[in-house]
Amino acid sequence: MLKKLLFALSMLAMPALAQVTVTPPESNEDTDIALLGDMEVEKTICGWSGHQNTANKTIDNNPITLRDTVYTSGVCTHATSQIIVKLNGATRFVCRLGIDDEVINKAQNDSREGRAGYKIMLRGEDNNTVVVAEGNISALDESSVPIDINTNGWKYLILENEAGDHNWSDHVDWANAYFEYYARAATAPYIVSTEEIASKLACATTMFSQPGVRYMHKIKATSADAVLAVENLPAGLSWNAKRKLVEGIVTEEGVYNYDIVVALDGEESRESVKLTVSSKLQQPVPFMGWLSWNVYQANINEANIKATADAMVRYKLNDYGYTYLCLDDNWHADAREDGTNKPLSDDAKFPKGMNELTDYIHSLGLKAGIYSDAADLTCNNEFGSYGYEEIDAKQYAEWGFDLLKYDYCHAPSDVEAAQKRYKAMGDALKNCGRDILFYMCEWGQRDPWKWGAETGATCWRATYDSRDTWDGGVYNGSHCGAIQAIDVMKHISVYSGPNRFNDADMMCVGLYGKGIPSSEFINGKPGMTVTEYKSQFAMWCMFASPLTISFDITEIPQQDLDIITNEELIAIDQDRMGQQADLIVSNADYEIYCKDLENGDIAVAVLNRSSASRNVTIDFSKLPLEADTEYQFRDLWAKENVGTFKNEYTVTAASHETRVFRVSPAQVADGITAATTDSKPITVTPSASSVSINCLGSQGLSKRVLISDLAGRVVAQTNSDAEIITLPLNVARGIYVANVVTAGHARSVKFEVGR
Ligand code: GAL
Repeated sequence: MLKKLLFALSMLAMPALAQVTVTPPESNEDTDIALLGDMEVEKTICGWSGHQNTANKTIDNNPITLRDTVYTSGVCTHATSQIIVKLNGATRFVCRLGIDDEVINKAQNDSREGRAGYKIMLRGEDNNTVVVAEGNISALDESSVPIDINTNGWKYLILENEAGDHNWSDHVDWANAYFEYYARAATAPYIVSTEEIASKLACATTMFSQPGVRYMHKIKATSADAVLAVENLPAGLSWNAKRKLVEGIVTEEGVYNYDIVVALDGEESRESVKLTVSSKLQQPVPFMGWLSWNVYQANINEANIKATADAMVRYKLNDYGYTYLCLDDNWHADAREDGTNKPLSDDAKFPKGMNELTDYIHSLGLKAGIYSDAADLTCNNEFGSYGYEEIDAKQYAEWGFDLLKYDYCHAPSDVEAAQKRYKAMGDALKNCGRDILFYMCEWGQRDPWKWGAETGATCWRATYDSRDTWDGGVYNGSHCGAIQAIDVMKHISVYSGPNRFNDADMMCVGLYGKGIPSSEFINGKPGMTVTEYKSQFAMWCMFASPLTISFDITEIPQQDLDIITNEELIAIDQDRMGQQADLIVSNADYEIYCKDLENGDIAVAVLNRSSASRNVTIDFSKLPLEADTEYQFRDLWAKENVGTFKNEYTVTAASHETRVFRVSPAQVADGITAATTDSKPITVTPSASSVSINCLGSQGLSKRVLISDLAGRVVAQTNSDAEIITLPLNVARGIYVANVVTAGHARSVKFEVGR
């Protein structure tokens, strides 16, 4: 106190010191600088009513000055205040913190003025929040407080000022405040509003399901202390309080609403869920296909696209579900058509035009995808669609495309702009006269899993570009290895469901370092081992990610074909309940994931992240399994039943290997085990307008039969206990899947209609 008094007296007595001016550092080749003063301060909370926090000047409109040092950049707040910055991979936050010199006199005259508390917090993906610095500052402090924080791996930085006794003259300077981030990062850090992180819920509220298909909606609150309940559920659904999920089957099409009630700290809040039950969902299960980017980058043309289409059919990839053949960036002419502004394709690359190309793709039973960007330019600098959404959507429809990947390079950082831009294209696609699957690609920068479904998109990239490497190092705002993508995906499992999938980007299987962009910016040699490619494939299936490949498939080595056509893993990805695997056990060496499947089975994956082989015990009490009950484990890589186990099962996983098991109750019905039903083949015989399914030896056992197309749309269903079940089927020619569930044990058989 005495020290403060002496300092105050000395300030009064001393002539003003010569001022020093400080300017922020500049970006360089490796590190970009983002200034807090350049961000949208209007979105921050200011404690002086009727006023706003100010950028690059003080609350009283003076140059930001702390103890005679003038800062050309920074933000000045008035307590009680809050600034929230979404970090987007920024690694460091630096500033000088203090109460501005402009209120020194006031602080000297009144011991309650010109004083504030500060608190700096970091918040992670799972809403865990830590305080990294806190204290009190006064205009009478001898010097400002140096702040230098490692923000690596965190999602938000929160800067707060408390007013204390009262909030007069609490003019806080966050002077020379800047962030360092990776120079090639797609999105700089930016300020978000308090509302953006205020929601009490951390799960999806726009949901989809098909009539007659089992539905599951996991409910999660931002706080682990919240008590959850669900009200007004439609017929067929119930609340599983133990697992905190809504489950059941809605049989009628329609739009339903139910409420999630969150009780926390004596307060109750309510959020409404909109559930659309429809047999015409755009993406009932994750789409599968091939994208041109990693392998050809800008060098796409009629010849290599048609050769890819031929190969997709030659290797029967379409029969496994890989039906979308997608042009990525750089299909464009130099400019739009004069006068009409219609998009034009590059005549040199596609001399016969887009209609001829999509006709060719369709003639093979495949679907065609195209690419654009929500700005003036695409990522690789072609013309983008911003402002031309309707013209472009109509043209894509006229050209015969079935999917649009919509990128976000050269577009504004903030979430509101992104929402508007994606919605504009989503609306345009809805009105374009063709069913075009809308695939967002803003790299998960603005949490698209929270709002993407409202734009009309049915999947969204959750990660930066996947590189052809296992470990891509720091998640730095531009690209990532397989492990970094997994580390993003594992936090957002509750947001996945039918028609709303988190996309982990193209898989790198088949590339072996031969891709173009997939090999850039990697420490060391690009490429992964077969074990690592298999792990990536297995985890993408566990995550219910769209399954997309991007390598030269005109000659596919057997080992790669075996990976991408593993039907039992594909069935995990394509499970109609659309659940993304949850992370159940996690430590530095290994992770265990669990995915709920529509027939009541679960898929369990053990991912060994370490550099040595490991024995891992799967503890059933951590999984949705009953105690002291036998379960059948089926190894989905070996494609064989490995036995029945109760309470625990220990497996060995090699370094970077992912073992995946389908787990079902060993006992199907009295005296009948899963193993006995598996040994009896199911045969499917389609005829002109019906299909007959022979489930040998199952007379008297209740069964549920669902027939769906390869896009996951259910086209027929029934319940029966007969051995031979016949049901009407009027569908176009193609491949279909009959799924028979006998007392919770499922088997699937593919069959062809009309070929
Ligand atoms: C990136 C996108 C890539 C690829 C590329 C094309 O932004 O993430 O998947 O589409 O643009 O330029």
